[in-house]
Amino acid sequence: MKLVKKYIHGFVSEESLRTMKTQTEAAAGLLHSRTGPGNEFLGWLDLPVSYDKDELERIKNAAERIKKNSDVLIVIGIGGSYLGARAAIEFLKSPLYNNLKKDTPDIYYAGNGISPEYLNELLEICEGRNISVNVISKSGTTTEPALAFRVFKKLLEKKYGADGARSRIYCTTDKVKGTLKELADEKGYETFAIADDIGGRYSVLTAVGLLPIAVSGCDVSEIMRGAAVAMEELKAPFEQNDCYQYAALRNILYRCGKHTEIMVSYDPAFVLMAEWYKQLFGESEGKENKGIFPAAVNFSADLHSMGQYIQEGLRIIFETVIDIKKPKTDFFLEDDPENLDSLNFLTGQNMSEVNRKAFEGTVLAHSQGGVPNIVLELEDRSEYSFGYMVYFFEKACAVSGYILGVNPFNQPGVEAYKNNMFALLNKPGYEKQREELLKRL
Ligand code: PA5
Repeated sequence: MKLVKKYIHGFVSEESLRTMKTQTEAAAGLLHSRTGPGNEFLGWLDLPVSYDKDELERIKNAAERIKKNSDVLIVIGIGGSYLGARAAIEFLKSPLYNNLKKDTPDIYYAGNGISPEYLNELLEICEGRNISVNVISKSGTTTEPALAFRVFKKLLEKKYGADGARSRIYCTTDKVKGTLKELADEKGYETFAIADDIGGRYSVLTAVGLLPIAVSGCDVSEIMRGAAVAMEELKAPFEQNDCYQYAALRNILYRCGKHTEIMVSYDPAFVLMAEWYKQLFGESEGKENKGIFPAAVNFSADLHSMGQYIQEGLRIIFETVIDIKKPKTDFFLEDDPENLDSLNFLTGQNMSEVNRKAFEGTVLAHSQGGVPNIVLELEDRSEYSFGYMVYFFEKACAVSGYILGVNPFNQPGVEAYKNNMFALLNKPGYEKQREELLKRL
């Protein structure tokens, strides 16, 4: 990952970056000395080298079993227990993964919402096909995945009997506590542990992400290798550290009134990565009435929808553009003797070059229109690059959160809707709150 600062000139001076250096180093110091707020959730910091190697082997073995005996893997989870795996699979394989010819199972996601239609459609998709389930919940008590798991556990027990279901259900949850852990122990399901000191949005490089990713046929060891290299390289001093400089730039721009960061990509394979980024930064920084609002667009598609606003709307935006240097495949445009569409000037051109010109044209237009553009270059869509990028963003987020003056590792605000929902659903213990809410509805 390489930071390109060319398109922020005129918005951020070298002087302000130098001034922010002290604060960034102080923030990084808090992180590495493990003395900052939320320091009980720093398990991700050295995870790329300290991870449990035996568990990784178990993950690979489980993935092989699932690949052999299943047409479909249902991954049940929400938020940090869902986004990382899906982002990885779409980035490393394809957003069209399920539709491609392949020798790995289709992967569908459940428990990431409460829509009855979605659940019914998923059950229909599963008809007549061999299924395995990976249910993921750190707390083991989150309503959405618990509801979906109840449905798929019943389906598997009906289809394969209790013993058959046992060999097809994999639980990723807390090592010792929680309803899911108790249920898994009671039923004898294979379990994978989420460490206490790794929060949901920082958990993609644990079994939470790695088991589904391995089932899709990706090399999870390569992912960890990329993350390990990032871990070492991103300890460098500020001047040589693109991760620290990115964190610093975000905060400089925020203080200049650029309150929204739009993550821009030029490949649909990045759409779910951007969702992962939104959770990582949104949940980490959006608190105490402050925080950069993380948004995302996928170009060139969204140039035809959001492009107008970015070019000429409220000047509260900066963009962070992911520039993937090497496309996975080429696509050369052929000559058309009729040339009725007048596109023959592009004959022999690689589609990736056309995409690059869209990127260059847009960066120039947007920065000239008052939108600073930070560019992050990524070599390719390999497992190694993915691991590197995940660690880069995780560390940038932690450092940026400390510069902002918040605890980047808690999420107290997430409870508010849950309590209201339980009260409105008449959950025992919520009677008084229910009365108050019903008056307001
Ligand atoms: O980042 C977080 O903490 C959340 O997004 C959680 O991952 C999400 O709420 C799911 O929680 P759990 O894994 O406990 O089911």
